[in-house]
Amino acid sequence: MVVDPVPWRDAWHTALYAAGRGFYVAGGGPAAHFTTATHRPTGALLAEALLAVPEHPVRVVVDVGAGRGELATHLVGALASGSRYAAAPGHAGPPPPDGVRVVAVDVVARPPGLDERVEWLRSPGGGALPEQLDDLEDALVVAHEWLDVVPCTVAQVDPHGELREVLVDPVTGAETFGDLLEQPDREWCAAHWPTTTPGDRVEVGLERDRAWAELVSRVRSGTLVAVDYGHTATARPDGGSLTAYVGGRQSHPVPDGSCDLTAHVAVDTLAADTVRTQRDALRALGLRGAVPPHATATADPLGYLAALEQASAEARLLDADGFGAFWWAVRRVGAPDGAARHD
Ligand SMILES: C[S@@+](CC[C@H](N)C(=O)[O-])C[C@H]1O[C@@H](n2cnc3c(N)ncnc32)[C@H](O)[C@@H]1O
Repeated sequence: MVVDPVPWRDAWHTALYAAGRGFYVAGGGPAAHFTTATHRPTGALLAEALLAVPEHPVRVVVDVGAGRGELATHLVGALASGSRYAAAPGHAGPPPPDGVRVVAVDVVARPPGLDERVEWLRSPGGGALPEQLDDLEDALVVAHEWLDVVPCTVAQVDPHGELREVLVDPVTGAETFGDLLEQPDREWCAAHWPTTTPGDRVEVGLERDRAWAELVSRVRSGTLVAVDYGHTATARPDGGSLTAYVGGRQSHPVPDGSCDLTAHVAVDTLAADTVRTQRDALRALGLRGAVPPHATATADPLGYLAALEQASAEARLLDADGFGAFWWAVRRVGAPDGAARHD
């Protein structure tokens, strides 16, 4: 069968979110294919750190792009017990304090066995959000590795120095040049990722900027945190970053629904108050990854082991060559200074 090549953005959206067959809709969930910081052993600590970000009382915590509720389960556990380590999936512990709600949002129906304290909202996927997610007050909204799976335009500079949209064969992944890049993508590139070097690729961040702005618009008051792979103006990846993951391995990106498709986020173009690395954000919250003094091992072996476990999780989240290199874009709605600042 001959299939016409289509813009990457469209093929990507179909591959991940098409009803009944998209990778995220029909597959076993992200955790079946790759590990993120929301999983054990770092998820509980990450949840605690995220809960420490808002400088206001929180009445609802929302996790957008929740996978199968891994981070939401850690969030509800941390809220309920103040414990460093959240309840196991499926466990029903005490409710979060003062009726704080935890809402997980993803493209599938509520996963079986999910902690019953977590509410679940089904979303259309990509840059689109469910209508019910609106008017959030006193909210903490987390989007952990959501924006990198919001499909975007992929462009490449042709031999004449012109940016063209890249088309892809959805079956083979073979690429061809399409038309000259159009507005408003062209304007975004000129402002944020200018290049005329033949062969350079650009993953146009406009769809991610819009998706983030849409999420911000759903919040009446609160704090939003996007955590993702990314880059800023001084370090854009010339060859692009579009890649695929399946079954724990990185693979060649083919938009046929068989694999995750992801590209790093131009984090400095998101409308945020602060943008900094996870390492810097966590260090500002006091995480150090410091190993406990060995002398305490004899006096308090269990305490020592717990402190060691904590230090090891902290070190993984802070690792400048690993999770620590992720970016945190934080937006406070209602804050006096809404201008973007890049720390
Ligand atoms: C890379 S996975 C990350 C999962 C989880 N946050 C983690 O870090 O382990 C991206 C998730 O975002 C979800 N997703 C994509 N678009 C979405 C949308 N518009 N609303 C809610 N979830 C979305 C996908 O279905 C997928 O579960």
